[in-house]
Amino acid sequence: MMRTAVRFWSKTGCTTRFLSVALRVPVRSRPFASIPSGTRIEQAVSSTQLRELNVTWNDGTTHAFPNVWLRDQCWCPKCRNPTTEQNLVDSASIPLDIAFTDVALSDAGKLKITWMNDNHQSVYDGDWLRECVEKKARLERLRRALKGPRLWRALRVDSLPTARYDSVMKSDVDLYKWMLGLQDYGFAIVKGVPPVKDTLRLFAERIAYVKETIFGQLFDVIAEPEDVASHFAYTSQALDLHTDLNYREKSPGFQMLHCLESKGPPDQGTSHFADGFAAAGWLRENHPSAFHILTSLPVNFTLRTYGRKYCYHVPIICTDPCGNVEEIHVNNDTLNTSDIPRDSIVPFFASYKTFVAKLRDGSVDVRFKLEEGDLVTFCNRRILHGRTGYDPKKTRRYLQGCYLDYDEVTSKLDSLRDIYSS
Ligand code: OGA
Ligand code: ZN
Ligand code: ZN
Repeated sequence: MMRTAVRFWSKTGCTTRFLSVALRVPVRSRPFASIPSGTRIEQAVSSTQLRELNVTWNDGTTHAFPNVWLRDQCWCPKCRNPTTEQNLVDSASIPLDIAFTDVALSDAGKLKITWMNDNHQSVYDGDWLRECVEKKARLERLRRALKGPRLWRALRVDSLPTARYDSVMKSDVDLYKWMLGLQDYGFAIVKGVPPVKDTLRLFAERIAYVKETIFGQLFDVIAEPEDVASHFAYTSQALDLHTDLNYREKSPGFQMLHCLESKGPPDQGTSHFADGFAAAGWLRENHPSAFHILTSLPVNFTLRTYGRKYCYHVPIICTDPCGNVEEIHVNNDTLNTSDIPRDSIVPFFASYKTFVAKLRDGSVDVRFKLEEGDLVTFCNRRILHGRTGYDPKKTRRYLQGCYLDYDEVTSKLDSLRDIYSS
């Protein structure tokens, strides 16, 4: 590691030193509660090779601040508007290899840097630098403590969050509790919803505005003759487990289905739901290369309907920047593998078959017949849904459905949490 000169500043004069500098910083009241009182910078060592400044505090904490960050974080009046705190430095123009000619430490715990390119001088308060380090650590602790989703394992329908319509309509606390369940399981049931057309809107609007799509706001899931149906869902055919509208730029975050009519043999038109996150977690553990392929290869979903063509490319499993599974996209009816690159075709099919087999093997799913007055709400980017086929001559089945935006639902939950979380 190359080092540059670090010298005392102010009272102690200009005693130029190399390496670490022992500071005699007077103890004073601190504006940052999270920093133990008496904490002070003990040494500041510059690495010209890595273009960073290693700062060590007297409690042993060390942190390497990249030079480019230090230059960007100069809060002098030339670099930040003191009133609005708006940035006056063009961050994109700071040279990545920016270096300084001098670093000095004051008895008052301040660090002064003179930049090589323009002789600008930046002064940093030691406590403020330490608070930047603490803030990052706090965020990281928060991220780790966040409770992940409650993954489904051989679940029974009565273990899924369930509430009565009257209670969630009348009581915000009951709605809040029900929504916490929805967040954990990605799925929740409301029972006793009047089996009356458009009652779905009343409940949906307790939570969010209804999201409009090419299928309208509320859509009727009812068997139409196959030659006129605009969608397989609007027939009496079986529907394999799927997520909806993967051919849109962002598939709707939540879906609601309200059962208005359910008459006929018990094994017909039975609903099927599976936890895509549980299956993806299993894939990651047991078939890491399949998980890698399904998270990195975008595939095409396409639908032609109402005279329009929709298509969108998205991986079957999407992860967030931390690697957590965030979205599932599975729909056999709209999947179009025609443009998968030649070398990825066989690996894709092998991985996809493994994933879908897990979804269907009964270990992460639940099956039950919706009854009149049942209303299910589920995260369409996590929970797959499907149904068995039925004979429309023997079965009368009528569902009304709608979609909600993901962030409208989370915003409702966040608003309720503000009021009711203890
Ligand atoms: C749908 C759908 C399922 C059902 O409308 O998207 O998948 O149970 N319906 O009819
Ligand atoms: Zn400045
Ligand atoms: Zn569907």
